[in-house]
Amino acid sequence: MKALAYEKAHPLDAFAIELVDIAEPRLRDGDVLVEVAAIGINPGEAAIRQTRSAAPGGRVVLGWEFAGVVVAIGDVATGFAIGDRVMGTGDITRDGAWAERVAVDHRVVAKIPDELSFTDAASLPIGVLTAWEALFRDQDSLPAGVERVLVIGAAGGVGSMATQLLKATTSAFVIGTASRPESARWVTEMGADLVVHHHRDLPGQLRGTVDLVFSTSGTGSRLESITEVLRPFGHVAFIDAPGPVDLGALAGRSLSLHTETVFSKITAGGDVSSQGRILARTAQDVTAGRLRPIVTTTLDGLTAETMRTAHTLAESGLTIGKTVISLDPHRNR
Ligand SMILES: NC(=O)c1ccc[n+]([C@@H]2O[C@H](COP(=O)([O-])OP(=O)(O)OC[C@H]3O[C@@H](n4cnc5c(N)ncnc54)[C@H](OP(=O)(O)O)[C@@H]3O)[C@@H](O)[C@H]2O)c1
Repeated sequence: MKALAYEKAHPLDAFAIELVDIAEPRLRDGDVLVEVAAIGINPGEAAIRQTRSAAPGGRVVLGWEFAGVVVAIGDVATGFAIGDRVMGTGDITRDGAWAERVAVDHRVVAKIPDELSFTDAASLPIGVLTAWEALFRDQDSLPAGVERVLVIGAAGGVGSMATQLLKATTSAFVIGTASRPESARWVTEMGADLVVHHHRDLPGQLRGTVDLVFSTSGTGSRLESITEVLRPFGHVAFIDAPGPVDLGALAGRSLSLHTETVFSKITAGGDVSSQGRILARTAQDVTAGRLRPIVTTTLDGLTAETMRTAHTLAESGLTIGKTVISLDPHRNR
């Protein structure tokens, strides 16, 4: 089958992902095999391209956000039939979905309704799962006493879903951050009650404390102002790589620090099936109009050129919503 792959870690200006022929994925017992129809793009994948090399003689296939059709089912995978339209993530230690087909653990996959296009579906999984686990942990609800939430980077792929999730499933007052008029407009469309500028004085703009800060970008450089806007015993959840940080200031306010890696359940253990359940609920919420897909840019075709464009957008830090690559045969299904 065709796949987009590379051998050595490389920067964007030496982009080396190519369309190559590789063997069909080997299905594990708990897997479904999915014919990929659309791919969601994440900055984390661009970061992995810069740091992960293949073992000698091997290649790396990235991409852990997709929508497509089930074409084969492992012996112990349940809940799916051949022909089901699905969306899902995957396992960053295995080959990803930048390929014609991907083998993926059925527990991180959910069916999608007929009215949801593959392109729209592929914009949802990583954002909704990351936001859900960062905000609700393993409790399916916000920590007790959280009524005002600040979402930093609220126009991005994860911030967009965090803002929508908070408004759709909680009664929290949601403040989103954005630094451009177009991203600020988008954050309002996602449902934020108030939009503030993340490169300006946060405490000054907020007029009052918040109970939880969900930080998607720039966490390390902004920890001081994050601390300042939180009430004592408040919560910080972050998802980016903050680098070396001094946590002393957090202790001064007895803050709780929440980390989140969307792949931790599948790679480190935990309730992996909860991710399939969250995705199934997301599909229902989209059908009911409680959540909306976040595609803002659609690129066409599984080609190296399309993927280079996607990586350029991902590394710009300017993405609003989500970039999705549509693979032609299923475009309008
Ligand atoms: N831990 C996990 O499991 C996990 C999962 C998914 C993503 N991530 C990571 O989380 C981060 C966000 O992912 P994403 O997909 O939401 O990214 P994204 O879609 O690329 O985010 C783009 C948005 O970030 C905002 N932004 C850029 N620089 C910022 C800064 N210094 N401070 C605040 N906002 C800034 C921009 O808003 P303006 O244009 O308005 O400035 C832009 O709209 C990435 O580092 C990604 O690798 C982690």
